[in-house]
Amino acid sequence: MDIEEVQKEWEDLRVDFKRLETINKDYATKLEEVGDLQGACMKELNHQRYRMSLIANALKSVDKKSIEKDERLLTLEKEIMKRKAMLHEIEATLPKQNSLYLKIILGNVNVSILNKNDKFKYKDEYEKFKLILSAIAFVLAVLNLLIDFRPLQLIMIFLLVWYYCTLTIRESILKVNGSRIKGWWRLHHFISTAVAGIILVWPQNEPWNEFRHTFMWFIAYISVVQYMQFRYQSGVLYRLKALGARHNMDITIEGFHSWMWRGLSYLLPFLFGGYMFQLYIAYTLYQISYHPEATWQVWYLVPLFLTLHICNMYTILRTLRKKTKGGLKLRYKLRAIAYRLSNEIAVLDQKWRQNKGEAKTE
Ligand code: COA
Repeated sequence: MDIEEVQKEWEDLRVDFKRLETINKDYATKLEEVGDLQGACMKELNHQRYRMSLIANALKSVDKKSIEKDERLLTLEKEIMKRKAMLHEIEATLPKQNSLYLKIILGNVNVSILNKNDKFKYKDEYEKFKLILSAIAFVLAVLNLLIDFRPLQLIMIFLLVWYYCTLTIRESILKVNGSRIKGWWRLHHFISTAVAGIILVWPQNEPWNEFRHTFMWFIAYISVVQYMQFRYQSGVLYRLKALGARHNMDITIEGFHSWMWRGLSYLLPFLFGGYMFQLYIAYTLYQISYHPEATWQVWYLVPLFLTLHICNMYTILRTLRKKTKGGLKLRYKLRAIAYRLSNEIAVLDQKWRQNKGEAKTE
């Protein structure tokens, strides 16, 4: 190339740069518009919630006064339930402030995932992460049952500390993004981090040798339960996604319900088995605590395992009660998720058609 050709190339590129500038300006304007729309959505959402709370209170006082349940009252109650589920789904499309825990760990970085598809991907990845780590923990637990090698024990326990700690962060991100995960399951992982941390600093003495095998069996067992949980949770996730793409909502929601109960009936016996194992561990540790060489770790672990047992039992029974009694609420929740998903699919479809049209005219 001589200098004239280079100059010509540069002039050509200048035209391309002008195009880039125009696109970027358009992008910046749209971003600003998105910010304004998000603010307006938030305002309307708060307005809906405020007026709904007034209406719900008024309904309560009407309900107290009336002797028989009015048909209109029942309809309004159902409508409120439906609207609440829809508002939750709308809220999930808006950016949210980080929780205090995330602010401390990550700082004020934005972790809101606004696209529902990316949200599903993040949840799916979280479930796969749990599965892979459980498989590694299973192998290490079995190896520790076969070999008495302190570094291998420490590797496994350290892995557990890191694993549970990571789960607390991932679950906080899921929560910011609209997950309905119960507070206890999150707290459960905070407590599990503490339990693993305490076991990590437990010196290699006689009480540890007495406890070691029970603990390794427990880790192997919950890794298997984790595999079953993975199958259940990813089944729920993919079925919910499929639900959004269908048209005959009622049939698919019925199908989802019966699948969910089938999945739960396989999983629940194993979960209860795990909770009984936790009770057994608390009892074993209590007995070990009388050992003359017992250190403080044993005393701290007894109430922690007992708390895990009691709260797990309580939460799971409450979840089951809600699932059986709150059938209608669950239905509305599913319908709202499916409705929003089908909306998003429609938007994507429209975009795809537009792009196709533009390509044709070009
Ligand atoms: N860990 C992480 N997330 C959980 C969870 C758990 N243990 N239990 C429920 N969730 C999530 C669900 O994925 C769902 O998320 P989403 O809103 O993003 O879709 C949300 O919380 C609401 O779930 P819910 O409808 O209440 O329950 P479910 O049908 O998804 O699951 C159980 C019910 C009982 C199967 C589930 O809670 C569970 O497996 N619990 C046992 C956990 C345990 O004890 N582990 C230790 C074994 S020893």
